[in-house]
Amino acid sequence: VDLSHDNTMALACVADAVIALTDEAQLDAFMASHAKGTEPNLPLFVLSGGSNVLLPAQLKAIVLQPQMRGINLIMQTDDYVDIEVMAGENWHDLVVYTVNQGWYGLENLALIPGLTGAAPVQNIGAYGVQLEDCLEYVRAYHLPTKTWHHLTTVDCQFGYRDSIFKRAPNTWLISCVGFKLHTDPNKILASYGDVQTVAQRYAKEQGRQQATPADVMQAIISIRQQKLPDPKQLPNCGSFFQNPIISQKQFMSLQVTYPAIVGYPMPNAIVKVAAGWLIEQAGLKGGGIAPIMTHQQQALVLTNHTPYQATQDDVASAQRHIADAVYEKFGVQLSREPVWVNSDGSIGHDEHVV
Ligand code: EPU
Repeated sequence: VDLSHDNTMALACVADAVIALTDEAQLDAFMASHAKGTEPNLPLFVLSGGSNVLLPAQLKAIVLQPQMRGINLIMQTDDYVDIEVMAGENWHDLVVYTVNQGWYGLENLALIPGLTGAAPVQNIGAYGVQLEDCLEYVRAYHLPTKTWHHLTTVDCQFGYRDSIFKRAPNTWLISCVGFKLHTDPNKILASYGDVQTVAQRYAKEQGRQQATPADVMQAIISIRQQKLPDPKQLPNCGSFFQNPIISQKQFMSLQVTYPAIVGYPMPNAIVKVAAGWLIEQAGLKGGGIAPIMTHQQQALVLTNHTPYQATQDDVASAQRHIADAVYEKFGVQLSREPVWVNSDGSIGHDEHVV
């Protein structure tokens, strides 16, 4: 089965089998037959929207694609709503839908590609908000024990682009996500970058004094559209590298040579450095190794210029080239952000395997 159209990086990939799941019972039925050996005895691999994975040319696994749909209002009070969203709902469409309903909290996460079920895996975050801020619970199937679980925010063990689901790959299949959203149109978070200015401009255009969550969403959509390539036009998987975390001491010594270096101080004398800045200063904005090149407007994003033909090996070459150049110039090690999938469906955690 060809999966080159099922990953936003548009890497060439052929899998042994693909099973689309449209409800939870279907998974129970499949797992029962899998246990009896009536299905070929291949490893299982869960593929959601494919927007944060680097697939191998040959994937010798049974690919499970959660496609359950539905957005359900569970409870509404004056100040809050509880909603439950099935894994197969498109993330951006969900954000727009909730904001239009007057349910707020997800607006800063507009235009992130992918499906709702994958959002908790890497605790998606942008413009000062992370998924965990609004998430209440996740319902997920534990593949090794064939059991369903209700995981609270604490159970999910969220971190920066991290969770229990990401740390134990091929273990959980998320079927639905519960959110607690608020209904106060005056409560916004617009402190990041240009968000406040752009949101305020939208508000003024509508004759309003104060920016609402809808204005913030519009602002973020326009900021992202300027910087981040649309995967449908130029295949990519979002930020390719994590923003590296270094000691304050190392940051201060880098500042001596590079006063313009961009860093965000964090607790415990560490600093998160903007990897996009490092890559750009290493002379690699728009660079890389063809056909995998960094984006002209945002060096942190790698793009694929020969969709459906380029392979994981091409990505590995470009990654190595960029990471080496940054290390040579700044002594800072860049780590990959998207999930690297091996041909047996296992996940390549070790940077050095590529
Ligand atoms: N910068 C450069 N050159 C570049 C890119 C960035 O100098 O080519 C500088 C910018 O000028 C800015 C700083 O780096 O001062 C940060 O850039 P930006 O605001 O674009 O954010 P980012 O740190 O590059 C992170 C997330 C994005 C998220 C944005 C906004 C990570 C790895 N990436 O990017 O997430 O949308 O912040 O919150 O944390 C994603 O995960 O796929 C993703 C796009």
